[in-house]
Amino acid sequence: MKKLAPSILSADFARLGEDVSEIERGGAHLIHVDVMDGHFVPNISFGAPVMKSLLGRTKIPFDVHLMIENPEKYIDSFLTDNTEYITVHQEACVHLHRVIQQIKAAGVKAGVSLNPATSLDTLRWVLEEVDMVLLMSVNPGFGGQKLIPQVIDKARELDEIRRAEGLDFAIEIDGGVTLDNVRTVTEAGVDIAVAGSAVFGADDICGRTEEFVRLMNEAQSRR
Ligand code: DX5
Ligand code: ZN
Repeated sequence: MKKLAPSILSADFARLGEDVSEIERGGAHLIHVDVMDGHFVPNISFGAPVMKSLLGRTKIPFDVHLMIENPEKYIDSFLTDNTEYITVHQEACVHLHRVIQQIKAAGVKAGVSLNPATSLDTLRWVLEEVDMVLLMSVNPGFGGQKLIPQVIDKARELDEIRRAEGLDFAIEIDGGVTLDNVRTVTEAGVDIAVAGSAVFGADDICGRTEEFVRLMNEAQSRR
């Protein structure tokens, strides 16, 4: 099943609970939680307390995207009953294999993210271990940027590798996903699409969520 993961980075933090209720009514599958430290990326967003403020307010699982240095130090603070994925950046982990094991030992699914310029080859020896590969389709740090089109080819190539190796990790794409490109992205083999500004920037957040889910399902049935 194709999944939509709206990024709360683009939500109205003063009414975060209400915004999340809207995406829940619209059928969103995951809540994408963008954590930025001002070191790995040139921006600071929010940390675990903001995510945890949603506990009890939503049943949608958390999809945590750590854009931080030394992510191994902070994994525990993002573990909740509602946490499905914790994703770290390949570029931020000297001991990537160890961090993947740490996440899985904590009982959640492990994701690894690649910046646009980072080769798929860097995951060659850990692909069997991961539950998800998150392909950044913008340079991480800010919402509202334009999707870098080469990343669609990267997704296609990763999908081919997955098939050739008989693996079943999910492919997620993150950055600049809109109603105009979500079909192309889904047809390239992406299972989970993150969308921030294109969801929370809409006047009707619930309606926009439904529209994204509809387009992804259509693209799925055409594959
Ligand atoms: C970028 C973040 C993305 C981003 C998505 O650093 O990881 O999740 O906020 O936002 P849009 O969809 O607005 O590009
Ligand atoms: Zn993200």
